Amino acid sequence: MKEPSFEHEFAIIPTFVSGNQETVVVQFLKTATNLLRKAKTLEEIQEVWQKVNALEALSKKFRLSKDVQLDATELRIRIERRLGEILRQKTESREGHIKKQNQNLVKVDLDSEDSKSIRSNLNFTKNDLSKFQELARTPQKLFEAVVTDLRTEAVIKRQAALSTTGILRAIRNEHKKDSEPLFSPIIKPSDNWNFSTVQYGRIDEAWGEYRGYIPGEIYANCFWYYVKPGDLVISPMAGSGQILRVYEARQEWMGQHVYDFKLKMFDLTPRGKYKDLIIQHDLTKSFPVENPDYIVMDIPYYGMVAQQYSNKAEDLANMALEDWQIAIARIAKNCAVAQKTGTLCTVISPNYRDVTNGLIVMVTDIIRSLWESAGYTLYDKAYSSRRIQQNQTPQMARMNNQAKANRIMLTDITEILTFRRG
Ligand SMILES: C[S@@+](CC[C@H](N)C(=O)[O-])C[C@H]1O[C@@H](n2cnc3c(N)ncnc32)[C@H](O)[C@@H]1O
Repeated sequence: MKEPSFEHEFAIIPTFVSGNQETVVVQFLKTATNLLRKAKTLEEIQEVWQKVNALEALSKKFRLSKDVQLDATELRIRIERRLGEILRQKTESREGHIKKQNQNLVKVDLDSEDSKSIRSNLNFTKNDLSKFQELARTPQKLFEAVVTDLRTEAVIKRQAALSTTGILRAIRNEHKKDSEPLFSPIIKPSDNWNFSTVQYGRIDEAWGEYRGYIPGEIYANCFWYYVKPGDLVISPMAGSGQILRVYEARQEWMGQHVYDFKLKMFDLTPRGKYKDLIIQHDLTKSFPVENPDYIVMDIPYYGMVAQQYSNKAEDLANMALEDWQIAIARIAKNCAVAQKTGTLCTVISPNYRDVTNGLIVMVTDIIRSLWESAGYTLYDKAYSSRRIQQNQTPQMARMNNQAKANRIMLTDITEILTFRRG
């Protein structure tokens, strides 16, 4: 069979304009692919690059089919990868095969005679050559996967194009993904949800230091353990919207497993910077949406936050124990009516102890019994410190002494109770 030769075949280029341009280009691209396969020297590869570069330009100029244009670009990029490989091999042989076992460590000298001649022959910059080197360093499997992805994207989207830079960007993104830890340290492997440093601290600085504030990390762990991709999640006591901030930052704590779900927020008294995204709703009256896959509520802690969020009578924070229990029972029922069997509902609350008058209310037991009466079973439980001991102020020291003297412990642990709708 006759060897393919560009000298011969390219002689017909002048007739290109009048002939069937697409067939001619397709034929030339085939010839170029064969030549590339056979090419051994830098000079041969440079020659193929020049021809394919010209074919690519022609395919664009004459607006040939997208497929042919992409074939030309893809082949040009493959040649650039080969150029990178050959340059590396040459460097290796100059360096006496010292680093052969780890080829990725071989750094091509961009000022070597070979590099200089390529740069002047093909008008490449040093930057171009280092890009080719990067293409050459990319494992075959990853390179092929990225080329396929970007080609598909270029066919589907009018705006998208195949390019050396685009391929390198996609390759770098893939490497970045691999370097992401599999799981974030924010996600706790046990039911001890204590966070030595809090990344998602309070967002509403106007509040007092310990009131109504949970580290956003608690929401991240709730999402992680209880929310599936595509779920509808409802936060019916969203307050100032800490939950939204954690939801929006999910690529930070989902490690390599980032997924999407929907979040809707409600509150009796929306406030803070996300106020406009939180819908005003009284949860004791009804549940605001149907069929939530997951409900998570950070309720006003009984006895600790009176008048903190509003002065409304229907605000749980302002209720005496009896009314608080009635309101919580209604809320449990409203959740049960809205949720389907098997879905989950999390309630976050500490117990209550008053060091000065000795009153102890096992709030989390009350919550459990009310949710069970409404048709749920306890599914899971985690614990988190309210970090009340972290500031050793004189006031804290006095409270600690008072607790010990009166034999009534201070309350520090928040329980994260998750119920399953029966
Ligand atoms: C502990 S705070 C939640 C704070 C929230 N984690 C945040 O990011 O700001 C409890 C919330 O319950 C709300 N609340 C009190 N009574 C309510 C009711 N009847 N219906 C709906 N929300 C209520 C309060 O307005 C308050 O924002």
